[in-house]
Amino acid sequence: MEAGFVGIDLGTSSVKLILMDEKGQIARTVSKEYPISFPKPGWSEQNPEDWYAQSVAGLKELIAGNEDKLRGISFGGQMHGLVCLDASDAVIRPAILWNDGRTMKECEYLNGTIGRDVVSAETGNIAFAGFTAPKLLWMKENEPELFGKIAKIMLPKDYLAYRLSGVHATDVSDASGMLLFDVKNRKWSDKMSEICNVKKEWLAQIFESYEVIGTLKPELAKELGVSSDVKVIAGAGDNAAAAVGTGTVGNGDCNISLGTSGTIFISSDTYSVDPQNALHSFAHANGKYHLMGCMLSAASCNQWWMGDILRDKDFAAAQAEIKELGKNHVYYLPYLMGERSPHNDPEARAAFVGMSMDTSRADMLQAVYEGVSFGIRDSFEVAKASGIRIERTKICGGGAKSPLWRRIMANVLNITVDSIESEEGPALGGAMLAAVGCGVFSSVEDAASKIVKVIGSVEPEPELAGLYEERYQSFRKIYPALKPIYPQL
Ligand code: XUL
Repeated sequence: MEAGFVGIDLGTSSVKLILMDEKGQIARTVSKEYPISFPKPGWSEQNPEDWYAQSVAGLKELIAGNEDKLRGISFGGQMHGLVCLDASDAVIRPAILWNDGRTMKECEYLNGTIGRDVVSAETGNIAFAGFTAPKLLWMKENEPELFGKIAKIMLPKDYLAYRLSGVHATDVSDASGMLLFDVKNRKWSDKMSEICNVKKEWLAQIFESYEVIGTLKPELAKELGVSSDVKVIAGAGDNAAAAVGTGTVGNGDCNISLGTSGTIFISSDTYSVDPQNALHSFAHANGKYHLMGCMLSAASCNQWWMGDILRDKDFAAAQAEIKELGKNHVYYLPYLMGERSPHNDPEARAAFVGMSMDTSRADMLQAVYEGVSFGIRDSFEVAKASGIRIERTKICGGGAKSPLWRRIMANVLNITVDSIESEEGPALGGAMLAAVGCGVFSSVEDAASKIVKVIGSVEPEPELAGLYEERYQSFRKIYPALKPIYPQL
């Protein structure tokens, strides 16, 4: 290795770090976990100090023996989380995360009283419970004393970058999910700041994802044993970073991520807004744009069902019990944390429907994989309805490791699903952005064309896709049937 580039994927359950060389080869990966707390049903918080401590611990392990090669560090970060600092740079309260549903009232105010047309015209999006701006309105109403102390607000990976570099920066893709950002023109929206009582000086300086924001703080460089010239590059929201890491950078390219969240990401050369605002319209990490649907619980449903409920860690053995696809009589709604796309319903909850005395454990696990795939299909349908043709997709994230889940996804969507050599989407994307920022590649597209390799494809099987089409038509009737009950739960 002549030069090393680090990508830090600041995820919800752990931070994943990779060290990549100047040719795009991954030299080492390290992962460190941290806790998440759910203080009330539908709430979700993390301690920003945990992100920093675990990232620095991971960084030390990652670069051990290669300290002198390190040139640049960048990020893919869980989006939308609110980190507030006071005037002395202390964190004011735990970060409120992307899958926290406490802001229903604030979203109703933004989409109703202010008006979805106004919000969408300003930002390209409407309010969703997990977005950042509604969280600020919630704090003002529910924690006025803490709100009064705010001197800076930042997103999770930007907090990490701030601790590493001392620069209060953000990038266009992550800023897009705050609902304070004019996505089309890639700048803060003064009007949204006014509506949400946000002072200008609280907001970070905006960068493109591949731009250098600064260098490591000298004392940290010393602690890590690296040069203080190591560059810190803005990075991207985890979905845009994953898109870079899977080479989803061409017009119409698609990537599905099955992590804690489940997303379908459509790269676009131009800015566009879905007329229903069911899909997010965000800036991409390559200087362009994307549309995205986001489910709040995807691979986390598997984790919850297998780990928390069945207390079984042998995922492969459990999957091997699943024999027949397309004929399951059990359905699963994956709304463990409410749902974002396309329902925008923080009160929605998960459900198994259709069990009978002959239902097996394998049927229920299969229903989990199918339910998440149907949830992705819901957003896929919205994209199709707005005229977008998707014939194939990349796939990444923990869930993408399962051949069974990839096959179910290919048949539920009836499109080809391509696997990438590394399914470390956001971490690899982060390392690629670092290398672009350091001038190793001329653009994000250049890096993607030289680094990303498709290693296998799953084609849809006509008969199975037909069976799943019927199942999907049943699945989509279940949420409207349960919706009236949710507020009472
Ligand atoms: C995207 C979103 C999630 C998080 C997960 O809008 O909320 O995908 O970024 O980390």
